Amino acid sequence: MNKLKIKTNTDKGKISRYIYGQFAEHLGRCIYEGLYVGEESDIKNVNGMRSDVVNALKELDIPVLRWPGGCFADDYHWRDGIGERDKRPYMVNTNWGGVVENNHFGTHEFFELCDQLGAEPYICGNVGSGSVKEMRDWVEYMTFGGDSPLANERRANGREEPWKLKWFGVGNENWGCGGNMRPEYYSDLYRRYQTFIRNYGDEPIFKIAGGPDKFDYNWSETLMRELTQFMDGMSLHYYTIPGTWENKGDSIDFDERDWYVTMARAMRMEEAVANHAAVMDRYDPQKNVALIVDEWGTWYDVMPGTNPGFLYQQNTIRDVVSAMLTLHIFHKHNDRVLMANIAQMVNVLQAMVLTEGEKMVLTPTYYLFKLMKGHMDGQRLEVEYNSEEYEVEGIKVPKLSASASRRNGEITLSVCNTSCNEPARLDIDLDMTVNAVDAQMLAADNMNDYNDFDEPDKIVPKELECSVNGQNISVTLPPMSAAVLSIK
Ligand code: AHR
Repeated sequence: MNKLKIKTNTDKGKISRYIYGQFAEHLGRCIYEGLYVGEESDIKNVNGMRSDVVNALKELDIPVLRWPGGCFADDYHWRDGIGERDKRPYMVNTNWGGVVENNHFGTHEFFELCDQLGAEPYICGNVGSGSVKEMRDWVEYMTFGGDSPLANERRANGREEPWKLKWFGVGNENWGCGGNMRPEYYSDLYRRYQTFIRNYGDEPIFKIAGGPDKFDYNWSETLMRELTQFMDGMSLHYYTIPGTWENKGDSIDFDERDWYVTMARAMRMEEAVANHAAVMDRYDPQKNVALIVDEWGTWYDVMPGTNPGFLYQQNTIRDVVSAMLTLHIFHKHNDRVLMANIAQMVNVLQAMVLTEGEKMVLTPTYYLFKLMKGHMDGQRLEVEYNSEEYEVEGIKVPKLSASASRRNGEITLSVCNTSCNEPARLDIDLDMTVNAVDAQMLAADNMNDYNDFDEPDKIVPKELECSVNGQNISVTLPPMSAAVLSIK
């Protein structure tokens, strides 16, 4: 029996809705086929964006969408993606499979997609192979409302009003695919590039520096030392990879050992966030600079038979439980983590949606994001609970992980059971009378089950039985499950 107490009158700060952000890169079939099919396609679309995918994603209330990469961002030249589509130059996508990129999806199309989704745009600029002028011109093209050659060019291309753009990344992974730089060199470049990102709109641009990989504390230390007064956010990338970089492991063919290793590696997000936050605290005790985890999620070997450069993988209950562990870590560090963007939204890595021609399937991770919506901009509450722990690779993995928040008088409790075999009986105690509970859960008969085009509903939310008694709720979580309770 596990006891869990929600202290409903506590206030542990806001869980930013941007923690539920998404990422879409010109990689594999994320943009083309997945999101954008073009106006001439037989697949139903609005201004080229496929309607089935957009309608499904709208249900997630996506707060922010990062684009165009990823590694692609530092090889992307925005001028290639404006004007008449047929006249746009081609390029080779050297990062991702060497395929031809026709630039039919560019700046205007990205803002159209954001409009359709109701998501705020987050653009990552090119430091690795682009010039300062190119970056400053892009910002003016997008956001200047007055009379200038660039603003008028935007108008000539069909957009009269400037777009609202708040989030802007100054390069991506500049320690790797974004230029293989040393942190000192990137810091100098960042100072220069960011100077020319002007504020044309009502709201200043929130500048995000290309931060560390996983546990590279020298990178975060250098950026914090050199850039604190010049940046609003610093990014962090950490992926959950159960194997090695060369052999990451299969997304559906895995066993109990792989399950626990995945949970342990997901838990290492705690180590990365806590340690980078500690570095940030030393230089920025006021917490003016946010930690932006703009790439995270599970990363496995590509599905057999698919293009190795396309990073297409399937998605199981393992992804749901490891994602809930990770989201709870972001909740816990809500004093520093303002945004996180799971990689990636469609057809790449831990996707929400998979497509095959005109078919579409929603992944178990999609349903998790749908269930977790109650936490967005909620006030985090203190939760006390006891949980067994397993030790895997020297990392402590809790059997139970829980987080609670309150928004508009409603309490959201999310809780997962990481055990492969044992159910978890939970006695939830609230210091208020429970009037109504809606409890939904994601679980699977087998850890290897997944939603496929022929069987799309293998893992979908199901009602979780609960009994209510005054201030108490009792539930039993099956092994390998994640549940979300909305309590009034
Ligand atoms: O998400 C896939 C890739 O992972 C991104 O392009 C890059 O930033 C990271 O290494």
